[in-house]
Amino acid sequence: MFGKKKKPTTQIDQEQLALIEAAQKRIKQKKRLYYHLVIFIIGSAFLVLLNVVLGFGKDFTLFQTDWFVWAVLTWFFVFLFHVFDVYITKKFMGKDWEAEQLEKLVSKQELRIEKLKQKFLKEETEIAKAQAMEEIDNKPQPISKRNTLSLIVAAAENHIIGKDNQLIWHLSDDLKRFKKLTSGHYIIMGRKTFESFPKPLPNRTHVVITRQKDYQVPEGVIIVNSIQDAIEIATANDNEPFVIGGGEIYKQALPYATKIELTRVHHEFEGDTFFPEIDLTAWKEVANTFHKKDEKHEYEFSFITYERI
Ligand SMILES: NC(=O)c1ccc[n+]([C@@H]2O[C@H](COP(=O)([O-])OP(=O)(O)OC[C@H]3O[C@@H](n4cnc5c(N)ncnc54)[C@H](OP(=O)(O)O)[C@@H]3O)[C@@H](O)[C@H]2O)c1
Repeated sequence: MFGKKKKPTTQIDQEQLALIEAAQKRIKQKKRLYYHLVIFIIGSAFLVLLNVVLGFGKDFTLFQTDWFVWAVLTWFFVFLFHVFDVYITKKFMGKDWEAEQLEKLVSKQELRIEKLKQKFLKEETEIAKAQAMEEIDNKPQPISKRNTLSLIVAAAENHIIGKDNQLIWHLSDDLKRFKKLTSGHYIIMGRKTFESFPKPLPNRTHVVITRQKDYQVPEGVIIVNSIQDAIEIATANDNEPFVIGGGEIYKQALPYATKIELTRVHHEFEGDTFFPEIDLTAWKEVANTFHKKDEKHEYEFSFITYERI
């Protein structure tokens, strides 16, 4: 109620204001030209009067022409320049011309920006492609069709495979099957599993994985420093190498494997080493043979073969 009166807000936008200002400027320029014309006419008449009637500088001539002629001519050229400035230069380089030039420059810049965008987009696509290729290269690749890579393992119902770097059970038929399947082949293992054997297994080429650079092994045993190197060496020399453990190595080799030869011991044990759970959406069971308990076998077990789907 007692507040200050609000100032009326102008309804004219910036563009209209600019147009009005330009029109006012133009009127001023034309006015000045008109004044110049009037002063020129009066001034010229005055100069003629000064010389012809009053005799001022009567004897002063330039190229046999009276001085006032030169003065009037010079002034006339100055006036002509003024006319040129108002009607040609200022009009030609006026607001419209500026706007037109600005528009041209803006559209040129827009074109350049568009080209740069296209270039960046292309580069980004190339980079994304390269990254995707790199990811594919780094991803565990399945072994070539010619080769298989089998994991051979005996695991309890609760996935335990060992304790204190030893096997927990003794199942003679399982050991026989292990010997039968792996004989004549490359066998890949972790350093700890290798150390759990009293000596290298006969008739098999051992590939032992360790991070130690100077790990000493008996002659004929191959030492590598990564799972990838182990698989590369084994698959290059053998069509069906086996990964024989232990827990760390099974876990890392599983993504590369094409087959799993599992002995499922139908019992639960306490232990410290596990075999990973088999994802049945990625693996299908292709063989399953059940073995009962007997005097040589303390637990029931099944030989199960899985192949990658
Ligand atoms: N039930 C079965 O069928 C079965 C079969 C095999 C073994 N096992 C049992 O499994 C247990 C042993 O398994 P574990 O997991 O303790 O040991 P492991 O897998 O046999 O060996 C682990 C060692 O391998 C090396 N290693 C692992 N990943 C590596 C990598 N990416 N690059 C380079 N070197 C790597 C390291 O050696 P360094 O420390 O020297 O660097 C590591 O200490 C034992 O109890 C054994 O009896 C059971």
